[in-house]
Amino acid sequence: MEKLWNGRFAKDTSKETDLFNASIGFEQRLYPYDILGSYYHVQMLANQNIIDDSDAAAIQDGLKKVYHLIKSDSYTFKLSLEDIHMNIEAYLIDTLGETGKRLHTGRSRNDQVALDMRLYAKDVVIDQIKKLTALIETLNAIAKVHTKTIMPGFTHLQQAQPITLAHHLLAYVEKFKRDTSRLFDIYARLDEMPLGSGALASTSYPINRDFVKDALVFDRLTANSIDAVSDRDYLVEIMAAYALMAVHMSSLAEEIIIWNSQLFNFIELDDAYSTGSSIMPQKKNPDIAELVRGKSGRIIGHLSGMLVTLKGLPLAYNKDLQEDKESFFDTTDQIGNMLSMLERLLATASFNVETMYQATLKGFTEATDLADYLVKKGLPFRDCHHIIGAIVKEASDRGTTLSEMTLDAYKTHSSLFEADLYDVIDLLAIVSSRRHTGGPAPEVTAAQVGTNETWLSAQ
Ligand code: ARG
Repeated sequence: MEKLWNGRFAKDTSKETDLFNASIGFEQRLYPYDILGSYYHVQMLANQNIIDDSDAAAIQDGLKKVYHLIKSDSYTFKLSLEDIHMNIEAYLIDTLGETGKRLHTGRSRNDQVALDMRLYAKDVVIDQIKKLTALIETLNAIAKVHTKTIMPGFTHLQQAQPITLAHHLLAYVEKFKRDTSRLFDIYARLDEMPLGSGALASTSYPINRDFVKDALVFDRLTANSIDAVSDRDYLVEIMAAYALMAVHMSSLAEEIIIWNSQLFNFIELDDAYSTGSSIMPQKKNPDIAELVRGKSGRIIGHLSGMLVTLKGLPLAYNKDLQEDKESFFDTTDQIGNMLSMLERLLATASFNVETMYQATLKGFTEATDLADYLVKKGLPFRDCHHIIGAIVKEASDRGTTLSEMTLDAYKTHSSLFEADLYDVIDLLAIVSSRRHTGGPAPEVTAAQVGTNETWLSAQ
């Protein structure tokens, strides 16, 4: 078939031009949105008496047919027809002749692609919110059974103070809840219907933008036709939110990798979500977590690619904007896989509770509480810090833990030590004593799990 725009052209475009120019190779996933937009556009044209009802009905029928053809993989896309819009329109013209040519009245591919991308973005954001919610639910469920599971909390990757597994995982829940609310904010901002903006300057046909907006369930109309065809802010915002979400997932993946190392041995990954080494039989590798960490680099890269593509574009539409698709689609696919796989990895893992407990003891994480013990007996904190430092050094030299040291040994450092020090450095007592909002005490984290359950049921 001839190109739909070649009236002023004396000869065909070269094969290389077609190949370089076409987006059909990577935007076929837009077909349901393109067809839906055309369906209501043509309905509006008929309602406004811009085209005949019978033409509109025939076009709508053709749109349904081409939808089913594409869906069942029975439609052959043509590279020479460049993009999804013209491939679908060409089907209508092929099958309906003159009538098919009436669809594109009062519309440009510039507002059409803007519509398709917004419809697609709305769908995928909702999809990712669901996946993100599933990850939060799994983290929260693990936290619920581990409010008394002691583990070392880290700073500088050094054992710092005792916390619980629940407290640690709930930190990620907070990060992921913020990611969710960011996506909702973005959704609300992008919920504008651009059709009617034309190529850039709207149209003189007596169209009804509100009808199309309502039919396609948009909240508002775009307010400026030049902005509407050039705006890709919503893609940047989504990709930025995903990049941050990927950073959160990458941190969690990194911790899973560390916890899975034989030296830490905090976590047992399910065989179904681990891989082996082709040479070292003893290995069980955390490839899934490593890929989550690795793919986050790609997601961040796509965000900067998109920003650089947009930087310096004059208004309004420029073909550069076609470059938004591959990176946005890949980001969407990868982030979806990362969310699902991380959720599966965690849901099927088990935690080595005793190893975590021993690591907390061996890290002398009770030291701060031991210093506070002496403070309560009247010593200035700085002196206590010094004394406990010397005790930790002695315990470390002797290869013992603080709870294994005898009272006599403690008394050589300060006569203020009494037998009650052992109650103070009990690990569960330490976490239980931190019961402020946001702290690790089991009753506080249990309450937070409950708050999260309420939040989840409201999603
Ligand atoms: N495939 C194009 C894109 O993705 C559609 C819009 C083309 N518009 C144009 N005036 N060439 O941006």
